[in-house]
Amino acid sequence: MRDEEEGRVKVRKAVIPAAGWGTRFLPASKAVPKEALPIVDKPVIQYAVEEAAASGIEHIVLVTSQNKKAVEDYFDRNVELEGILEAKGDAGRLEQVRSLADLVEVSSIRQQEQLGLGHAVLTAKNVVGGEPFAVLLPDDVFDAATPVTRQLLDVFERHGAGVVAVNPVADEDVSRYGIIEGERVEDGAYKLSRLVEKPPLSEAPSRLAIVGRYVFTPEIFDALERTEPGAIGEIQLTDAMNAVAQQQGLYAIEYEGEYLDAGTPLGMVKSSVHEALKRPDMGPALRAWLAAKLRG
Ligand code: G1P
Repeated sequence: MRDEEEGRVKVRKAVIPAAGWGTRFLPASKAVPKEALPIVDKPVIQYAVEEAAASGIEHIVLVTSQNKKAVEDYFDRNVELEGILEAKGDAGRLEQVRSLADLVEVSSIRQQEQLGLGHAVLTAKNVVGGEPFAVLLPDDVFDAATPVTRQLLDVFERHGAGVVAVNPVADEDVSRYGIIEGERVEDGAYKLSRLVEKPPLSEAPSRLAIVGRYVFTPEIFDALERTEPGAIGEIQLTDAMNAVAQQQGLYAIEYEGEYLDAGTPLGMVKSSVHEALKRPDMGPALRAWLAAKLRG
């Protein structure tokens, strides 16, 4: 889709993969999809949806699986609940519940088998069509003045090639992430020569890890179709990105903002504390409680 005035390609769609088993969050994820677990009182997936909407995305494609009905329902109107809040005169909560449905268009598509992140993104191919698109992994949450997806889109618009967000990580965390090798082209931006999924520390080309924000041109789908299972036996998005980096070029940026890793139980606790401390309705009380707790 061309933006006539600017002559640029506008990125309208974002894919949010939400089909995984969430085994790190067992036993809770046996009952509740991990994407529906809250950071304070907001499902973790809503942070990604709000970031996408604030970045100018108009249409979200959720990739879900059998056990994610709660996530699909969350983005639907709930007329009965709205009626109850209306009858109670709870305008604040009514607005919260309603505004989500107005924020952005959401469609969902089922991944039939959990064959990996790359496979999940490929599942969205027909819904995305031949347009560039963003991908947001809901496990990764950011606190950023300019939404991280917006920062990626700005680089995409300058270079016309795919972009991924990276973050330096500690040695012990390297093997949990996709790791990049690249040449610095501008402040905090790299042109990528190689990407490796979950390398052992000894084989990692850098300490710069992919955190879950991407913008791709449709060529990623062709690369995914050719991608064989890789690390941990799954079809890896990082392997398809490696092919795109060789053929069309791919960039990475060290974004501005704070990374909250909501992909582990400890990370979820930290994310909740981070968000709660910022809230006027609970920040001061939490701060006082934490200080007393830490004093023992
Ligand atoms: C996925 C990606 C990996 C990336 C990470 C960011 O891994 O495969 O490249 O670094 O997300 O959170 P996962 O967390 O699904 O193991």
